[in-house]
Amino acid sequence: MAATPNRTTLVYLLLLAAFIALVLFSNHPSHSKTRRNRRVMPGRRIKVRLSALDPKQHDPIAFDPIIGNYERRREDRAWEKQYFEQQYKKWGENSATNQAVQPEPWETDADYEDPEDYLNDEDQFNITDRLIVLFPLLDINPHDGFVSVKELQDWHWLQGQNALQHRTDREMDVNDKNNDGLITFKEYLPHLTEEEIEQNSMNIGGAGWYQKQFDLNDEDKDGGLNRTEFNNFLHPEDSENPETQKWLREEQIRLRDIKNDGKLDWEEFHHNVFDQIHYHEAEEHINGHDYLHPSRDVQSQKIVNSKAKFAELDKNHDWFLTEEELVPIMAMLHPSEGSYARQQAEHLLNEADENKDKRLTLTEMLNHPYVFYSTAYEHEEFEDSHDEFR
Ligand SMILES: *[C@@H]1O[C@H](CO)[C@@H](O)[C@H](O)[C@H]1NC(C)=O
Ligand SMILES: *[C@@H]1O[C@H](CO)[C@@H](O)[C@H](O)[C@H]1NC(C)=O
Repeated sequence: MAATPNRTTLVYLLLLAAFIALVLFSNHPSHSKTRRNRRVMPGRRIKVRLSALDPKQHDPIAFDPIIGNYERRREDRAWEKQYFEQQYKKWGENSATNQAVQPEPWETDADYEDPEDYLNDEDQFNITDRLIVLFPLLDINPHDGFVSVKELQDWHWLQGQNALQHRTDREMDVNDKNNDGLITFKEYLPHLTEEEIEQNSMNIGGAGWYQKQFDLNDEDKDGGLNRTEFNNFLHPEDSENPETQKWLREEQIRLRDIKNDGKLDWEEFHHNVFDQIHYHEAEEHINGHDYLHPSRDVQSQKIVNSKAKFAELDKNHDWFLTEEELVPIMAMLHPSEGSYARQQAEHLLNEADENKDKRLTLTEMLNHPYVFYSTAYEHEEFEDSHDEFR
């Protein structure tokens, strides 16, 4: 053993052991040892997605909490693997990296069923039955036998929040070194020295910038963030606090402000903002190929459009965009969980609303069950054609 694991590592190993025990002995639906003859819809198979560990990427929200739960378990394992690899690197034990790769429990434990087998066994997981169970949970505001787009949105928002809080709890467990249920600024950013914290620099990566956001979220001002406050700190985009919203807009400027003057000129806007918002606006009009390989005409048209958009946002005509002038495009620069939930709700409604009355009955949902499980289902044909490129 080259390095002695420190206390944190031991705590983490204990947590991991507890987690594995939890997975193995948790109330797994139908812990059956015998494999039965499965009734599976031909050509369709539910896959438990592995969501991206990169917080900047946003995956679709699972409609069914059972599927969401499985996705989180998979994500936890991938995250643990990554975490261990980083720790091994820190210890300089690169050769040990492979030991960190944990097998999936169903690969080693005969009693543990692969969740994908469970989800694809229609005797056990029947999506018609699932929709019947879930419908009254969505139809609550008001409880009238119809699910509106708002009810669908609220439901997805809730599922999305559960996923975010789960990730926050994971971060909390490894960062809360003294286990007091609060993350202090020093615990969250241990690499900062006392001196750096003292300097309180507002530059990129500087302590002051994050300290500001930390303080904004420390509602009871006790110097530490509890699970709720830490979640808001990590995911400020849905905050209704105007100071937090302002901080987010300033952050968007900082990320693109090459000349470091606290505002964006047209060059900075064109190269680092316009593409992003242009893509959202152009998606419906330009096909992907033209967008990725624009002809010269398309390029010069793009510059004209970009200048026009800049002028439209630049309310005081000083040829700079300030934080306040970004308000109209923030939803595109940094979408909130609420906007993802709304997009998904609108999409599902469109797909299943047979009589176009902008609300869903249980019958309409039962007539289009796969719409609601579309984030989980993969067509096997589709899968096969993709395998060739792997
Ligand atoms: C799923 O449940 C519905 C309603 O309970 C039933 O009619 C259907 O046959 C079930 N499907 C399978 C494959 O068992
Ligand atoms: C965290 O603190 C806030 C503000 O003091 C409080 O509203 C919230 O309920 C607390 N959350 C937890 C999980 O204790």
